[in-house]
Amino acid sequence: MGVVTTGPAAPGIRREHLHASVSDPVLDTMNFLNEVTMRFPDAISFAPGRPYDGFFDLDEVNAYLRRYLDHLAELGRSPEELRSAVFQYGPTAGSIREIIAESLHVDEGIVAEPESIVVTVGAQEAMVLALRALISSRDDVLLAPAPCYVGIIGAARLFDVRMATFAEGPDGLRCADVEAAVLEQRAAGRRVRLLYLVPDHSNPLGSTIDLATRHEVLELAERLDFHILEDSPYRLVSAGRQLPTLKSLDAARRVVHLGSFSKTLFPGARVGFAVADQTVVGADGRSGLLADELGKIKSMITVNTSSLSQAVVAGMLLASGGGAARRNGEAAKRYGNAMDATLRELEHRFPAQRRRAVGVEWNRPTGGFFLTVTVPFAADDRALERSARRHGVIWTPMSYFYPDGGGDTAMRLSVSYLSAAEIVDGVARLARFVDDELEG
Ligand SMILES: Cc1ncc(COP(=O)(O)O)c(C=O)c1O
Repeated sequence: MGVVTTGPAAPGIRREHLHASVSDPVLDTMNFLNEVTMRFPDAISFAPGRPYDGFFDLDEVNAYLRRYLDHLAELGRSPEELRSAVFQYGPTAGSIREIIAESLHVDEGIVAEPESIVVTVGAQEAMVLALRALISSRDDVLLAPAPCYVGIIGAARLFDVRMATFAEGPDGLRCADVEAAVLEQRAAGRRVRLLYLVPDHSNPLGSTIDLATRHEVLELAERLDFHILEDSPYRLVSAGRQLPTLKSLDAARRVVHLGSFSKTLFPGARVGFAVADQTVVGADGRSGLLADELGKIKSMITVNTSSLSQAVVAGMLLASGGGAARRNGEAAKRYGNAMDATLRELEHRFPAQRRRAVGVEWNRPTGGFFLTVTVPFAADDRALERSARRHGVIWTPMSYFYPDGGGDTAMRLSVSYLSAAEIVDGVARLARFVDDELEG
């Protein structure tokens, strides 16, 4: 990693005087991946969880902005109000909450009052707000499956949130493991406040929680008194019928649902949201919504989500019947084809007998952007560097997604960003890399 030293030696700042999170390897993982990607620009990269570039059209941005402004004008807003809707600071909780509530209804069958929604700078900020609000003492615990999304691990590290994990095995999430982990924390005098889950086509595993387990985990949250952070950005970019969200099944309001438009619309908008419809009661007996509390925290972090970005996102939703699902049919098909092509090429390069002989295996997700390949050697940063340098192929070490260590011999492949030809070439390169490591 590049270290810049210029000018005469100044006393400088000692790293150990900074917050511990800046020395945490988790916060460096994305930098390392970016650095490898920049050093080997011709490599085929299965690393980024980005949507496919081919869906973006610069000319449409103006049209969507216009669509939203026309919508405001139809609601009777004056030209001055339209101007401020784009140029001014906006309400902390967001200016497009009604439109997002409608999209949740259209896309997901979730009935959410606009007041229960906070529009955030991506789902990432929504995670930060939820952790800040719901984790109130050193004995409060964030529980998550291992492996889990690096963004929640990093957010926990920023706030010194104690994190506990349970293993997610090849057959997916098991409620018995969740229950055992909650009880283990209790026995140690701590309290699991939040369970973080990506129920659909998770990042990094690509796994999906079945319907019976969704009901079971909601029942468990009620019985053992914790809340669930449901983060599901890959549903609408996956082909076929999706299972109901936890939020749509959440009669007891145990679920804080995190939304993201990064994969369904465009990540450059940096627009996401939280649905936090839980009642919060004060010592004085007065009550409000958890969303109000998240809004207070947001007011001291990002003040409000970009008004301009919200306007474009709202225009896109309005232009596609109020939801994001309709405009994602083609994308979902494309990503489904990319996943099929990757699985097919893996099968071609590692037929059953060969992969059993050498100890290579992978899972077969039904949607989303990611799958996992297990190999019989350390798939660490050094292996990644060799893979990029000698074979021109980049992937993500799975160990990045294990807060307590693990995943040392597995790699995450993302299929979303590559063309069909790149997938064929990329898997061939990966096979050559594996061969090389085995001969080692
Ligand atoms: C599981 C998961 N949650 C959240 C995010 C981040 O979403 P956003 O871009 O809305 O911050 C990602 C992005 O890759 C993700 O995979």
